[in-house]
Amino acid sequence: MIPRKIREEIEKLRREILRLDKLYYEEDKPAVPDSAYDGLLAKLKALEEKYPESRAPESPTQRVGGRPSAAFKPVRHAVAMLSLDNAFSEAELREWEERLRRFLRREVPIHYLIEPKIDGLSCALTFEKGVLVAAATRGDGETGEDVTANVLAIKSVPKRLKAGFPEVLEVRGEIFLRVEDFERINAEAAAAGDEPFVNARNCAAGSLRQKDPAVTARRRLRFFAHSYGIWRGAVQAEGRAPSGPSGDVSARRGAGVPETQRDFLRRLESMGLAVPEPVWGASTIEEAAAVYRDFKTRILPKLGYAADGIVVKVDSFKLRAELGETAQSPRCALAVKYPAEAVKTKLLDVEFSVGRSGVVTPVAKLKPVFCSGVTVSSATLHNFDEIRRLGLKIGDTVWLERAGEVIPHVVGTAKEERTGSERPIVEPKSCPSCGGPLSREEGFVALRCDNPACPAQLKRRLLHFASRPGMDIRGLGEAVVDGLVDSGRVKDAADIYGLSIGDLLEIPLFKDKKARNLVGEIAESKSRPLARLLFALGIPHVGEKAAGILAEHLSLEELARAKPEDLASIPEIGDVMSRAAVDYFRAPGVLSLVPRLKAAGLDFKRMRRPAGAKPLAGKTFVFTGGLRSLSREEAESRVKTLGAKAVASVSRKTSYVVAGEDPGSKLDRAKALGVPVLGEKEFLELAK
Ligand code: IVH
Repeated sequence: MIPRKIREEIEKLRREILRLDKLYYEEDKPAVPDSAYDGLLAKLKALEEKYPESRAPESPTQRVGGRPSAAFKPVRHAVAMLSLDNAFSEAELREWEERLRRFLRREVPIHYLIEPKIDGLSCALTFEKGVLVAAATRGDGETGEDVTANVLAIKSVPKRLKAGFPEVLEVRGEIFLRVEDFERINAEAAAAGDEPFVNARNCAAGSLRQKDPAVTARRRLRFFAHSYGIWRGAVQAEGRAPSGPSGDVSARRGAGVPETQRDFLRRLESMGLAVPEPVWGASTIEEAAAVYRDFKTRILPKLGYAADGIVVKVDSFKLRAELGETAQSPRCALAVKYPAEAVKTKLLDVEFSVGRSGVVTPVAKLKPVFCSGVTVSSATLHNFDEIRRLGLKIGDTVWLERAGEVIPHVVGTAKEERTGSERPIVEPKSCPSCGGPLSREEGFVALRCDNPACPAQLKRRLLHFASRPGMDIRGLGEAVVDGLVDSGRVKDAADIYGLSIGDLLEIPLFKDKKARNLVGEIAESKSRPLARLLFALGIPHVGEKAAGILAEHLSLEELARAKPEDLASIPEIGDVMSRAAVDYFRAPGVLSLVPRLKAAGLDFKRMRRPAGAKPLAGKTFVFTGGLRSLSREEAESRVKTLGAKAVASVSRKTSYVVAGEDPGSKLDRAKALGVPVLGEKEFLELAK
């Protein structure tokens, strides 16, 4: 018999893990650091082992990974996408070389090429005759997700290769974000009152796996190519094709094919593909070990993107072919990672920060500590559930982790180090900024300050108003907003438009030039289209896309007077958003804000099309075969409204051929010319 308490604990752990899985795998919104998740899973495993009769097939311990999201079509990889063997120390790196030598059974010099192990998402891009025709995520290695429409939207991925490509190239690499871009996205999320991403990798995954490729396009994703699945067909003279980390062994023709990893990367670069940088050559395993030692302290902090170690690769493709692969990984390459660095420090205090919508977030104030290359002195604790889960007290020694990521997390408490002087963390009863009452909505973990005049909320709202996707007022950053609100000069967004150079000069450290620039920026922002203004206002539930839709249907005055049913009739605007918008404009502060913004000369006009909506400008489409969900005329008119041309015949310059049911010879011609072919679903995604 399993004691009741244990049974309940097991059930609770299973529910929590499944909830976290769903957030992580299906919504790309990890709720806790990986180490905290691992801790829950380990606890569940231990209990199931101790009480074997509790085991159940539906337990998360019985599953390997998450289910792929239903939003993308599954694609089977022509050549399996293997993974790399991992090592965590120099000793394991040396053992790997010994294994290679035993396997080769002869004395040969082995040269290595070393690359950063990019902490991104593996992706395979297929180029036919140099044209990007397909993109897929790794998935389980056999089957991934078709992300072609989204990858086509990534600016840094070439859609056409420069000369020197083989007939078919399925190149593999990582999609990732540079640190500065990740930080910008998180700052914008924070300014919009949204949950920030836990790390750059999850942010990149979330950005790639968007239903709307236009969102992907804005996220500045990058791609570094590091290996290939298929290299087929001749481009120049005849030669021998390489055997990459997971090469297509059935296709061995081609010319001028690379013979080493270094050569391969050089070739990719000359085709216009970005490759990992920096890379290092090593002619002994000791030289490789030296790179491993150096990388973490000297290179990683300046790399500009997240990496969780290095990849040591046998440089010669001939040797690689000899080495072959095991079921999971090629023998010729090894990922040498750094053990996730956990450091101990003191929790000095917990402060509470108030967001734009009034949500109060606990923030750990830590004794500054050096962790994975940076000094950390504060970390978000998310909410009180998290504080209870960690069992935190002020004065505790806590474990802090930052594994190749940007944001540090408190992952545990060293309870054995308690002295008895620790103090409990008390939930605030009133708002730390305005002293007003706090409430907690039924079913939500977050505490909220309900005072719309709360200075902390006002500051956040103003920052959101001025943010890049909002009114884009450069120079209206945190310090300036603090000065303007604390001095009582700005009480809402409309006050920004009344600021004079003289007003600004009264803020400490404001110089003449800076004041003049800011006044200029403010004046310029008046002409932003209505969609931007609607987003900038920070109406709950109204993000950039919804703001664009609303702006196409109503002027700001009409929206301010609208009833929920007026809005709910607009396609894509649901009940929750309609209610939120109506409530927003009924709030006393907003009632007076709207006419003052109008008087300041802001653009309230309904827009005929959403902001900058010519996403397909310069593209040409050819249709062949019947589409199921719309007529040929509708499809052609849709691409025209989005800025593209619909033409009758296929040429090399055609951007896309859309093939419906029973396609004609245009499809064959597209294939022959290497023009990308879209199915109906991909076309609808692209022309949304
Ligand atoms: S070579 C067999 N080089 O790490 C795969 N992989 O399990 C050969 N990765 O999913 C890949 N940086 O996508 C290679 N410089 C690099 C890499 C790299 C990151 C990823 C790869 C794979 C995972 C290893």
